[in-house]
Amino acid sequence: MSQNTQNSYLDMDMLRFTTAGSVDDGKSTLIGRLLYDSKSIFEDQMEAIEKTSKSSGEEEVNLALLTDGLKAEREQKITIDVAYRYFATPKRKFIIADTPGHTQYTRNMVTGASTADLAIILVDASKGILTQSRRHAFISSLLRIPHMVVAVNKMDLVNYDENVFNRIVSDFRDFARKLDVSDITFIPISALKGDNVVDQSEYMDWYKGTTLLYHLENVKVDAADNVLDFRFPVQYVIRPGMHFRGFSGQVASGHIRPGDEIKVLPSGLTSTVKELVTRDGNLEVAYPRDSVTITIEDEIDISRGDMIVRKDNVPTIKNEFESFLCWMNEKSLDLNKQYILQHTSRQVQVFIEEIFYRINVDSLSREDASELKLNEIGRVKLKTSQSLFFDPYQINQKTGSFIIIDPTTNVTVGAGMIRAGSTRSKDVVDEAASRKLISPNVTWEPWNISREEREQKNGHKAKVLWFTGISGAGKSTIAKAIEQKLWEEGKQTILLDGDQVRHGLNGDLGFSPGDRKENIRRVGHLARLFFEHGNIVLCTFVSPYSDDREFVKSLFPKDSDFIEIHVTCDPKTAQTRDPKGLYEKAMEGKITGLTGYDAEYEVPESPSMSIDTDKVSVEKAVDLVLSLEV
Ligand code: ADX
Repeated sequence: MSQNTQNSYLDMDMLRFTTAGSVDDGKSTLIGRLLYDSKSIFEDQMEAIEKTSKSSGEEEVNLALLTDGLKAEREQKITIDVAYRYFATPKRKFIIADTPGHTQYTRNMVTGASTADLAIILVDASKGILTQSRRHAFISSLLRIPHMVVAVNKMDLVNYDENVFNRIVSDFRDFARKLDVSDITFIPISALKGDNVVDQSEYMDWYKGTTLLYHLENVKVDAADNVLDFRFPVQYVIRPGMHFRGFSGQVASGHIRPGDEIKVLPSGLTSTVKELVTRDGNLEVAYPRDSVTITIEDEIDISRGDMIVRKDNVPTIKNEFESFLCWMNEKSLDLNKQYILQHTSRQVQVFIEEIFYRINVDSLSREDASELKLNEIGRVKLKTSQSLFFDPYQINQKTGSFIIIDPTTNVTVGAGMIRAGSTRSKDVVDEAASRKLISPNVTWEPWNISREEREQKNGHKAKVLWFTGISGAGKSTIAKAIEQKLWEEGKQTILLDGDQVRHGLNGDLGFSPGDRKENIRRVGHLARLFFEHGNIVLCTFVSPYSDDREFVKSLFPKDSDFIEIHVTCDPKTAQTRDPKGLYEKAMEGKITGLTGYDAEYEVPESPSMSIDTDKVSVEKAVDLVLSLEV
């Protein structure tokens, strides 16, 4: 296989999808129909099926046989393997995570779907939405599958009745409002008869949407892989000769090139990538899902189960964390039992220490629970015998998920997704702070009253005015004067000031670069909330680092929503003004790390405006800022 076909990250014209439904919903028939009508199956397979169907006296070709062929093989497997089926149309390639349709659908969903771009939720039109459809939808949302198709199947059994379809759509929408899914498409089909699967139905003129295959061919697939955070779980150490030593595995996320600096976990030792070796020659860059052998410049000890990451971008290292856990075994979760947890290439022992709550999938409410039964989902706390190197599932699906194995039977009994901010300790905060992106799939939960409505009522746009500069430059003075003026004009304003925010909300943060980053991250999100409520948000923060200011800017829908104002002056002026006596303290050596004195300030490269308070009066500064059409 050449690198390009192997490298699925680059292969954007591929859609991975999963189907969820119980046996009766017609899942196998649907997949069979897709393959059959799109002429994606091999002739010999088809002949065999026609024969089998005829010999069992069936009228229609039994398309379920197409997919059921793999079943026997699958059921022998004890781990999380799912059969993947591949098919292609001229438009696109498809991978179906083909999960067997028996009652243990939770396991099938969780293990088969975690890399899917789209989930097809099958609903039987004659039965309406059952608990398990809700469960499937909930799990899809938990797994952060970006697109969902609700295929209302067996329309032939309800005389292709539009009202039946509409009722299901409206019921499902009511339920899905509480889920974190941004894209849901409803399609009325009959997998058995072939309506709206590949070919448009002759019996449902009232349906104006596309067929299922057309939708699958055209739905926009974004790269769901995390290409920022390099994570490489080492599967094997290869030592064929005296002079070659390499570390093999599959890139879980991120990318890496020869010459990049790496760190090995848990040892913390660092080195540089020498080569990325594959059977087809060396790579210039390795992307998610590439299988490679990494060689490094230095002789350091690395073993199976270690993780190679970038020197400056490390995951959380912890042995206690929280997660959503889907239980998949007839035997309920036992809080007193030690299980095995498999996470990337490591296996460790684990106790599930606490169940915070169980989720009622019908109402999506939380229930107290002392155990989790088959197919139940709960939020739990886990404690492992050794630390894991993980990221929140939201950010990294590979390093944020795990399975639980029963050591006595070796059966997979649970699957989990690690939650962001699972522990309260410091390094997790810093870890979250070091990220620009939380997840490309986060959707904004809309308020009842939209920002647009609020803006209309207020008679002005919502905006953020971000004042940055060293201590004593005049940020607060100017911002206060502007707020006064806006107030007099009857505008809705909020002023967020470094000193104030640091008294309460951010009272746990100091002035290390990491703490400042976290300070700005939290304030950025706060500003975003006020912004969404229609305010003109004035923020006065030293915010010495460009990356942090860029991060805040990235939280707003349009560049023009975030106005960056650099308030500057000669450092000597600031020292003379010294409104809080900080420079004096710094000069006396009582404090260190004061911005503008002995700590760095990264001057904004292209602020919306720069105000030099050595040259411009407060009144003039106010006029200048207000001239920006606030
Ligand atoms: S930031 O760097 O994280 O953006 P922020 O604006 O919230 O800083 O807080 C700055 C305020 O904290 C200053 O106005 C000053 O009163 C106070 N302060 C105390 N120590 C320092 C320091 N070492 N550097 C900068 N400001 C400090």
